[in-house]
Amino acid sequence: MFTDEKIPNNVDLATDSRLQRALEQWQPNFLAWWNEMGPEGFQQKDVYLRTAVGVTTDGWAHFDYVKMPDYRWGIFLADPIADRRIGFGDSMGQPVWQDVPGEHRTTLRRLIVTQGDTEPASVEQQRALGQTCPSLYDLRNLFQVNVEEGRHLWAMVYLLHRYFGRDGREEAEELLARRSGNADRPRILGAFNEPIDDWLSFYMFTMFTDRDGKYQLLALAESGFDPLSRTTRFMLTEEAHHMFVGETGVGRVVQRSAELTKQTGGSAREAGGVDLETVQKYLNLWYSLSLDLFGGEVSTNAANFFAAGLKGRAKEEKYEDHVAREGTLAMELPQNGKLVRQEVPLRSAMNEFLRDGYVEDCQRGVDRWNKTLEQAGVSFRLTLPSRRFHRQQGVFAGLHFDPDGRPISNEEWERRKDDWLPSAADRAHVKGLQPRAIVNPGQMAHWIAPPAKGIDGKPLDFEYVRLA
Ligand SMILES: [Fe+2]
Ligand SMILES: [Fe+2]
Repeated sequence: MFTDEKIPNNVDLATDSRLQRALEQWQPNFLAWWNEMGPEGFQQKDVYLRTAVGVTTDGWAHFDYVKMPDYRWGIFLADPIADRRIGFGDSMGQPVWQDVPGEHRTTLRRLIVTQGDTEPASVEQQRALGQTCPSLYDLRNLFQVNVEEGRHLWAMVYLLHRYFGRDGREEAEELLARRSGNADRPRILGAFNEPIDDWLSFYMFTMFTDRDGKYQLLALAESGFDPLSRTTRFMLTEEAHHMFVGETGVGRVVQRSAELTKQTGGSAREAGGVDLETVQKYLNLWYSLSLDLFGGEVSTNAANFFAAGLKGRAKEEKYEDHVAREGTLAMELPQNGKLVRQEVPLRSAMNEFLRDGYVEDCQRGVDRWNKTLEQAGVSFRLTLPSRRFHRQQGVFAGLHFDPDGRPISNEEWERRKDDWLPSAADRAHVKGLQPRAIVNPGQMAHWIAPPAKGIDGKPLDFEYVRLA
């Protein structure tokens, strides 16, 4: 339990006074950022939040009412693994690094900064959502996700301060200076500059974009740089809740939509819900934006990260060949306006391995939503679009494909894109469903089904956020 110190931690911060001082200087800057860019209008409210107080699987979290600015953001690394070895790449089998190898310093810093940048970005994207929450339960879940993204920022800033000296401290300041969607100082990655101004987008984001985060963290958990591995392993523990919020959030919208469709015999949209066609469009948007986050299908960077032992594949142990110097992965790649099957050297295909695992994971969620539809007796089914659809990174960027992955012309794309992605009218409908926050304990917005159960064994009508 690490609740006494100014910065809760399990990294013996007190024994490194220089580092402690540096982080204590960063702390008020973080809080200033949180107060400016964190959840708007709720900073002084008591929220029933979980706080990490240890890293053991049993009882790592403590639940209680907290005002968000008083949240105990801390630094927690998973326990070290004795005699851990690098599990892939050219240095396979050598002891993991407890310090940053000089030749990998720039690359590692970049990897950590890129991961770190997503954490405050999502808090910024979601800051106005509290004003239109569909229930107190959902409001609390939003804030839980937000404070934990704040903690993930701490996790990355600790690494920057501890291992990267002055450059690291400068990067830590930059992480507080960029702003999601800002034209001059945007966040680093595309999806983290997209607006999230309705709750369907929030659920889609936590389902699809946080899940990219899960896969990036899984890949970094394999890293030969042991402090990064230990940090990301613990972040994954927290991250699971974010994806729960996303998957069950979309699931509840789908369930309600099915109920309304059955009740009215017509469109859920006319009955004050979200019609399944619109759910599909939001899915198409956030899934494709999130696919972009994995980077190019054929990538020298990814090959270098792998060769150097910096970033592996998710669950590297399930592969047989951890060196991947030989062999290829077959991919359909665009060439002169056609898709041509090509053999890509394994190391250059590392982003695609990560993306494959992600796509399967997303499909499992979609299958569960479709089960809900089936049980409700509705024939509509949700699908993941082709991974070529609506891409802005990688080999398919700049080309057009329909959701089945069929190449289409510019003209056809322009004519049909509103059939596949949320149109202005769809967005207006979704936003218009809920002009005000629903704040009576136990009450649920009309357009979403209640969750199966409450948080931390509490009933659904528990006062998850005290607004009085
Ligand atoms: Fe995160
Ligand atoms: Fe997350």
